[in-house]
Order: sequence, then C-alpha cells, then structure tokens
Amino acid sequence: MSFPVDVVIMAAGKGTRMKSKTPKVLQRLGGRALSAHVIACAQRLGARRAVVITGHGAEQVEAALRPLGGQLALDFVRQEPQLGTGHAVQQALPALGDDGVTLVLSGDVPLTRPETLAALLQVCRDEHLALLTLEMPDPTGYGRIVRDAVGDVQAIVEHKDATDEQHRITEIYSGIMAVPTRLLRGWLARLDNRNAQNEYYLTDIVKFAVADGARVLAHRISDAVQVAGVNSPAQLAELERALQRRQADELMTAGVRLADPARFDLRGELVCGSDVEIDVNCVFEGRVELGDEVRIGANCVIANARIAAGAVIHPFTHIDGEKAGVTVGEGALIGPFARLRPGAQLGREVHIGNFVEVKNSTLADGAKANHLAYLGDATVGERVNYGAGSITANYDGANKHRTVIEADVHIGSNCVLVAPVTIGAGGTVGGGSTVTKSTPAGALTVARGKQFSLADWKRPSKQKG
Ligand code: UD1
Ligand code: MG
Repeated sequence: MSFPVDVVIMAAGKGTRMKSKTPKVLQRLGGRALSAHVIACAQRLGARRAVVITGHGAEQVEAALRPLGGQLALDFVRQEPQLGTGHAVQQALPALGDDGVTLVLSGDVPLTRPETLAALLQVCRDEHLALLTLEMPDPTGYGRIVRDAVGDVQAIVEHKDATDEQHRITEIYSGIMAVPTRLLRGWLARLDNRNAQNEYYLTDIVKFAVADGARVLAHRISDAVQVAGVNSPAQLAELERALQRRQADELMTAGVRLADPARFDLRGELVCGSDVEIDVNCVFEGRVELGDEVRIGANCVIANARIAAGAVIHPFTHIDGEKAGVTVGEGALIGPFARLRPGAQLGREVHIGNFVEVKNSTLADGAKANHLAYLGDATVGERVNYGAGSITANYDGANKHRTVIEADVHIGSNCVLVAPVTIGAGGTVGGGSTVTKSTPAGALTVARGKQFSLADWKRPSKQKG
C-alpha cells in the first residue's frame, strides 16, 4: 500500500444474545478471542495502527487485547455511552492521522481475509469511499446499498429506516469500509441521529460523500463467511467450523494427511514436516510441531509439544506441555491412553504405554514404561524398563523430590520409589518393593513391608502432585 492504513475496530457493543459474562469480542474462536483474529488481520495487512473502540466490558477487553499489538501500534478508546457506529468512529478520530486511510472493522467479524481488505484498500486508493458489500438472499437486518439508475452508489439505508422498495435490495453493506481519513473527519462532523434508532450511523457518511461529489465505490465479494459476525452461540459454532475447515485445507495443501478435515480442530499453531498423518477427532492447542512421518491416532489432544520424526501417538493420548513443553523423541511410541504433562522430555524410541503418566521427567533413549505407571520429577536412563503399577512418590506433602533411575535398570511391577532416591545403573528392583534409600549400581533390591511412619508425612499443601 502506498498510503498508511489506520484500522478502527469497533468492539463496544454488548452482544446480548451470547448470554455470556464474557464480552462478545472475547468469545473464543479457534482458541483465541474473536477480536484477536481481527487484530491479526490488521497486522498481516501491514496497518500502521489499530484503534479499538471499547465500551461493554472495556477493562476486560483492553486487558486481553493489549498484549497482542506486536509491530502494530494498538490504542484503545472508550465509547460511553454507545450512540451508534458513527459515534464510535468519532471517538477514534483523535488517534487517526490525516495522511492515511481509515479501515473500519468490527471486533466480532473474525474471518475476513487480509487479501479481501487489501483489495478494498486498492479500490479506495486514498481518494474514494470504498464499501465492502455482498449479495444476500435474505438481507433482513442489514444496511442496503442504494444505487442510482446507472448503478452508482447513492446511500446505505438501514433496514429499520428502509422503504418497502429498499427492503427488496439484496446487496448489503458488510460493516467494513475504507475511507481517506481527511474526508472521514469532515463527514463524521455532519452526522445526526434523526433515524429509526436515534443513533449516529456511520453509514450516513455515504450520502455526504455523494453530496460532496466524492466517489463511493462498492467492492462486492461473494464469500459470506468473510463478513459474518457473531451474535449467538450458534453463529459462533458455525464460524468455528468454517475456520477449522480453512485451517484443515491449508494443512492438506501443505501435504498433511488428515483422515477427515471435518473432524479436525486446531486452536493454535501446528507446524508439520512431510508425510504426517492425523486420524479423526484430534485437537491441537498452543504450539505443536510434528516431525516427518509422525502419525497421530484418533481422539488425541495435543498441546504445546514437539514430536520428532517417525514418532507414533496412538489413540486417546493426552499431551499438554503447558508452559514447560513436552518433547517426544524420534521413533517414540506413545499410548494408547497415555498422558504426557509439562516437562516430559522423551528420547528416541521411548515407549510410553496405556495409562502411563509422565510429568517433569526426562526419559533417555530406549526407556520403556508400558503399562499403568507414574513418573514424576524423575530422571530415567537409557533402556530402563519401568514395570506396571510402579510410581515415583515424588511428593512428601510439602515438597517435590527427584527420583533418578540410571541406565539399564529394571523396575518390577507395583514398586514405589520414594524420592529423593537413586537406583544405580544396571540394578533391578523386585516387584512390590517400596524403595526409600538409594541403591548401588548392579544391585538387586527387594524392599517390602512397612517403610513409613506417619511422622514422615508433612502437612499437605494445595500443590498438585
Ligand atoms: C451495521 C451497519 C449496517 C451493516 C451491518 C453489518 C450501521 C449504522 N449499520 O449495522 O449497515 O449492514 O452493520 O453487520 O453502521 N458498535 C459500537 N458502538 C456503537 C454501536 C455499535 O462499537 O455505538 C459496534 C458493535 O459492537 C459492532 C459494530 O459496531 O461490533 C456494528 O454494530 P451493530 O449494532 O451490530 O450494527 P448493525 O445494526 O448490525
Ligand atoms: Mg450487527
């Protein structure tokens, strides 16, 4: 763009039909706020700044959006009370530069493509008033584009103000316009609220433009999803599907094999190598990386994780690295029904089987825990075999302690390793042992019977085990 673009994002409205305590523009779509999508779009357009008009839930909206600015200068302007869309844009005027174009967007219209807005800005060219419009079979409720005999746009008439004849017009105003800021300023000053809703309509600037002899151009698109707003839970769900389908199509274009794009959910960022296969009903959240030839079975939930080439995640596995992340090494086999929690770092060819939970633990190459086990705050050496029903007792009621299991150790079934404790390399711990003291390398340890007194148990806190 040869001119600066300042975006105004209208986000003051209440959204009564959501029936939610959360402000409408913070309702989540694809894992982020509706208005976060709009800000991301402004960023991709290369806008100079974005001014968000807040009103209902202003503090919450501002707190949620403020960190999202990035390169974009992000300002917030309060509109109280809300006297209409024209009044909303009036509030933003002090933050807008006369050297540029103002692009008006809505915080509850999340799926507009940046290319569509770039095309609208090309139509505006820092000279004309450019309106994004759409043909709608049922235009009820929308502002109608009124044209003269030769097809030039004369006005936008709101549904509630329209005559019967105007109600039959099927070209509607999307709510998105681009307008040279120096012209906008003059036109907004002339608004009044003498209309059916006693509101200051932004759409009235069209008739001022026409009166001033400025050109009003409509850029008509056919993809309704791009201008669809969210007013109800049903519309939110509909746009969620549209977004998911769009993301699924992008991944498939990049070569990812999705068993069924209609049963795929990405609520964050998914980076895939080549020949990745993802079965049905998987949910990806946060940032997830899948290396070449990774296979994800059906019904997995995977968040904040890096899974290296050739690893297989069997069905019904839950992985959530939260802030600490989870890493799965090359060729590892995980699940079915496995749970990897923050700080699980698994080496190459590690096997984690059904009903095994791993938290804040490092498992070196070739280590295996195949059934019904817990490894928390543990350092596990190469080729360790960790038996069914065994756990690390990492928490004494007050503090967490580490368990170290050195290379080539065999831990039998139903063992309790009471941390802090180290099992020396190559050792074996017999089934049913409760190990409270470290063992030397190569030792066979069988420790059964009462090891604890109640005095060892410190006062429990609310910390998670
Ligand atoms: C508006 C347009 C209409 C268009 C439709 C498209 C006007 C007068 N009408 O109508 O031509 O077809 O959008 O969806 O512009 N908002 C504020 N402050 C206010 C009023 C609204 O921030 O005082 C925000 C709302 O939160 C919303 C956006 O502006 O994000 C649009 O407002 P809304 O009330 O939905 O306008 P419509 O009546 O739908
Ligand atoms: Mg609306």
